[in-house]
Amino acid sequence: MISLANKPPRFLIKPSAVFAFVLLTFSQLYADLKEGKVVFEMYCASCHGPEGAGLIGPNLTDATVLHGSSHEEIVAVIQNGIPSKAMPAWNAVLQPQQIDDVALFVKSIMGKNLPTPVLTGESTVTPFPKGSVNRPLLMRTFMPTLDLDDDVFAYHHDSRETPKYTHKTAYFDPVKRDRPIDGIPGAITVNFGNQLSYCFDSTECRLLYTWSGGFIDMTNYWGAGSGNKRIKFGYIGELIGATGYLAKGKAPLAGKPQFKGYRKVNSIPEFNYTIGEVEFTLRIQPGESPGDAVCHYTSKNWKGKRQLEFSEANASQLSSDKGTFNKGILTLSAKEAKSFTITIKAQP
Ligand code: HEC
Repeated sequence: MISLANKPPRFLIKPSAVFAFVLLTFSQLYADLKEGKVVFEMYCASCHGPEGAGLIGPNLTDATVLHGSSHEEIVAVIQNGIPSKAMPAWNAVLQPQQIDDVALFVKSIMGKNLPTPVLTGESTVTPFPKGSVNRPLLMRTFMPTLDLDDDVFAYHHDSRETPKYTHKTAYFDPVKRDRPIDGIPGAITVNFGNQLSYCFDSTECRLLYTWSGGFIDMTNYWGAGSGNKRIKFGYIGELIGATGYLAKGKAPLAGKPQFKGYRKVNSIPEFNYTIGEVEFTLRIQPGESPGDAVCHYTSKNWKGKRQLEFSEANASQLSSDKGTFNKGILTLSAKEAKSFTITIKAQP
């Protein structure tokens, strides 16, 4: 035991300053950890489970650690992925700070020894993940662009190209640009069993497409079964089933989209984002027929009468419970825009 007895210790720095410094360091650490948790929920939970206890990817909380448990080793795994297995490389998707934060979070859950959940009706280790109407499965993975026109990806142009990489010198050429992955990096894809699957783009903050009759075949990406090599460096799931809706043209509302995250309301994902100053939530659910999608929107800061301009090519598939819909142009007052539902009929 250290006794401070009668002589108070002489600090070169004031004790209060030390205390403040420690507090600051702790609160910074706490902030990074919190940020890491957010990143984890967004990008990793679909495979490693919401608590890191495993799903498609391994349990990160148990005693089995394959690739090291130091901060540096965890960072390296996250940056580079495990190319022969299903673990994607994240260095083209996440910022270095995000990787650092999420590594911190992974470290914090190691040793928790949570039991690996086995979800009934949802797949665990299979290239054919699946959800159900009551328990939709949400995944963040690269999704095919399906030849949607460039207008649909207006805000992707910054991130769709990356500096060209040569493995020989491990050099990223900032001038030569590469498009290594022909997939949508910000995709969030949701499956309600055979009834409906959809792909929401968190960069554009819009629904890109729907399909029905299955979900995705991840063999290209994860390989077939455990231990198998990936078939090609595709990183993209292939759709199973038939598409019902394909977004066309510019976004319905002009303005910079910004994704704020999603939460689950009774297991149903609800996206939160802003377009310009208007704040939206969007919840997409299956409709009457396979491939139909019912899109529940709420909005804030919708001033006066405004229009959502869908492409005329999509117009015949869309209807709204509020406002007037004419040739794809939906006019809503602020009151109507507070809560409205757009129903999408799948194209036969
Ligand atoms: C597409 C599914 C998938 C996603 C998404 C994913 N992982 Fe993984 N991850 C895996 C698989 C599969 C492995 C096991 C690799 C192996 O067997 O060598 C793995 C391994 C790991 C490991 C090494 C575990 C060990 O035992 O050493 C860490 C750490 C890790 N992932 C962290 C993350 C983080 C952080 C994210 C999000 C940024 C993430 N993973 C996203 C599938 C995924």
